[in-house]
Amino acid sequence: SMDKPNIVTCTAPVNIAVIKYWGKRNEELILPINSSLSVTLHQDQLKTTTTVATSRSFQEDRIWLNGKEEDITHPRLQSCLREIRRLTRKRRNDGVPCLDLSCLSHKVRICSVNNFPTAAGLASSAAGFACLVYTLAQVFGVEGELSGIARQGSGSACRSMYGGFVQWIMGNQDDGKDSLAQQVEPETHWPELRVLVLVASAERKPVGSTSGMQTSVETSCLLKHRAESVVPGRMAEMIEAVQKKDFPTFAELTMKDSNQFHATCLDTYPPIFYLNSVSHQIISLVHRYNGHYRDTRVAYTFDAGPNAVIFTLQQHVPEFVQVLKHFFPPETKREHDVIFSYVVFKAGP
Ligand code: PMV
Repeated sequence: SMDKPNIVTCTAPVNIAVIKYWGKRNEELILPINSSLSVTLHQDQLKTTTTVATSRSFQEDRIWLNGKEEDITHPRLQSCLREIRRLTRKRRNDGVPCLDLSCLSHKVRICSVNNFPTAAGLASSAAGFACLVYTLAQVFGVEGELSGIARQGSGSACRSMYGGFVQWIMGNQDDGKDSLAQQVEPETHWPELRVLVLVASAERKPVGSTSGMQTSVETSCLLKHRAESVVPGRMAEMIEAVQKKDFPTFAELTMKDSNQFHATCLDTYPPIFYLNSVSHQIISLVHRYNGHYRDTRVAYTFDAGPNAVIFTLQQHVPEFVQVLKHFFPPETKREHDVIFSYVVFKAGP
C-alpha cells in the first residue's frame, strides 16, 4: 500500500587522501582552494552503512547516527537533502522516469552506522556523507553525477563516490558545478598496494576540520603558498606516479604532502596540533625503515588526527607489521590512553 515504507540500505567506504584537501574558498558550497587525490578503501573494510526509509506517514525528516538521534537541521545535511530532492524534481520535469515519484513529498528517516570510531580523524564524514547521498539517490531513483552533492555534505565525501584512485578537481566556477570528483584509475589498477590503518587514539579530535580549515585560510600564508604553488604540480606528479605504479614516487609525494598539511596546521594562528608523540614515533620509524633499505618501501599519511595510515606493497606487509609489533606491542595502553591496533586494507570500489 501507499503507507508501506520504501527502504534502501547502502554502504560507502572511507577514502584516504594522499594529496590533502585543506581550506575552502566558498564555505557554503564547499569549494576548495586546491585539488586533492585519494585512495578509496575496499567496500567491506572501513565503511558507513546507511538505511533510508520514506513513507507517506512520516511527519518530518529524522536522522540517527550510530544509534543516537541527531539534529536534522544541520546545514550540510539539509544541503544534501535539498539537492537530492531538487535533482529528483528536475528529472521528473525533464520527463525522465523515476522509481517512485510519489515519495518526493515524503519525509525520510535516515539511520547511519560506522564500523570505526567517528571523528577520530578516520575520514568518517567522507564515508558518511557519500553513503547518505548515494542511499537517498537510490530511494528517490536519481542516477548520474552525485559527487557535487556529496561534496556539499563534506568536502572529502565527494571522493568516496568512486573506487580506486580518485581526484577532486577544485574547479574555478563560482557556482561549484565544476568542483567534482573523478576516477583516475580503478581499484583493479594497482592490486599490490596495501593500506595499514594504525589507530593511535580513538578519541575525538580537538579541532574539527571545518573550524581548523577556516582558521588556516585566515591566518596561514604557508597554506596560500601550498594551494597556489605546490599542489598543482604535485597533483600532476601524483597522477603520473599512480598511472605508472611507481611506488617510491607515490610514497615520497604522500609523505611530503602529509607533512606540508601538518606544517600549515602549525603555521595556523593559534596553531593546530593533530599529531601526538606516537604519530611522531611512527614517522621516524618509517624513515628509518626506508633508510635501512635505501629504498622507499613504506609511506605514512595523517589527516586531522593522530592515527597513521601506512601505504606499502603487499610483499613488504609481513615484515613491516613485525617491525610495528616490535616497537608498538598491540593492546598495550600507552601514554594518552593510546591503544594500538592495525588492520591491512586494499584499495577497492
Ligand atoms: O571533508 P572534511 O571537512 O572532513 O576534511 C577532510 C580534511 C582531511 O581529511 C584532513 C584531508 C582530506 O583531503 O581528506
